[in-house]
Amino acid sequence: VPDNYVRIVEVGPRDGLQNEKKSIPLATKIELVEKLSRTGLSFIEAGSFVSPKWVPQMNNSSEILEHILAKPVPSPVPVTYSFLAPNAKGIDNATAILQKNPDAFLTQAQSFAGRNTEGKPALELAVFAAATESFSKKNLNCDIATSLEKFRDVIQGAKNIGVRARAYISVVLGCPFEGYDVNPHKVAEIAASLLEMGADEISLGDTTGMGTAPRTQELLRCMAAAGIRKEDIAMHFHDTYGQALVNTAISLEHGIRTFDSSVGGLGGCPYSPGATGNVATENMVYFLESLGMDTGVDLDAISDIGQWITGEIGKANDSAVGKAVLGA
Ligand code: HMG
Ligand code: MG
Repeated sequence: VPDNYVRIVEVGPRDGLQNEKKSIPLATKIELVEKLSRTGLSFIEAGSFVSPKWVPQMNNSSEILEHILAKPVPSPVPVTYSFLAPNAKGIDNATAILQKNPDAFLTQAQSFAGRNTEGKPALELAVFAAATESFSKKNLNCDIATSLEKFRDVIQGAKNIGVRARAYISVVLGCPFEGYDVNPHKVAEIAASLLEMGADEISLGDTTGMGTAPRTQELLRCMAAAGIRKEDIAMHFHDTYGQALVNTAISLEHGIRTFDSSVGGLGGCPYSPGATGNVATENMVYFLESLGMDTGVDLDAISDIGQWITGEIGKANDSAVGKAVLGA
């Protein structure tokens, strides 16, 4: 992988849509995933195996996974599709679908071996811890220690069926309930235990968008001091205060090369009041390319998708770059 390559993880179909109050048709969600698959993105988070009582919008994620397996879309690069799974029920539901279609996806070992040539999707399951006890309770209905015990089984379950495991840590730069008082050493400690359990990557979530440049720097210094490798870290910035790209620049200086973003700037967490969307993928691609980095993502195509999906769900297009590109 060239040093100027940056991997973008598109989280629009999951983080982008999970908080929408009006039910979005399954066909629209599938169309979104398919359109994104054609843009050069290599990682797309497509749904969530969580309780439908907690997040009703993600209720049809099984159908999305089934569709991805049954009708893979020709994509310019091999695509890994990711789904959240916070507990045994989540991993069981995902596993049941994958076990019915064992030949329809590439295992992690096969994609590492470069066998991803037949257009088969690869898969990833993602757990999500929190950096504060109050957010853990609100988002997962348990304390951090209990959540980590559950995640051990989910991560092991993912490995057992040969799929990648991602682990988020939310509210790393600010918590809706505990404010700026989030301990970066606690974040590093949680990250270390998730990696020890077998997580392939830690995505550090600025759920509230409260992160600033100095605090991003402090967090990443703390991660490095704790021995967490930069290759194992992704950054997940929500853009509530408009600081996401500044914090991205700081992260790049620290050697981070994986960033989460959401087409059209969609997004928000139902358990983080006031938090708005993820940084827009259009803005991220434009910014990274202006620095001479390569994302492999087609900016025109992604801008079209941002305009289309925000129209479909009746929201304003939140990407300044997307609008400028389209002259909208
Ligand atoms: P709980 O109520 O303690 O769970 O919730 P439970 O085990 O007591 O089960 C309660 C009911 O839910 C039962 O159904 C279960 O079967 C069902 P009932 O018997 O009452 O009919 N259930 C499930 N159904 C489907 N799939 C499942 C599942 N689990 C239980 N996996 C639980 C605990 C974890 C389930 C709940 O708190 C939950 O679903 N939380 C998810 C919240 C969520 O999705 N938040 C948004 C994603 S995280 C995020 O956005 C942040 C991120 O973007 C990064 C960042 O920005 O920081 C990733
Ligand atoms: Mg998020």
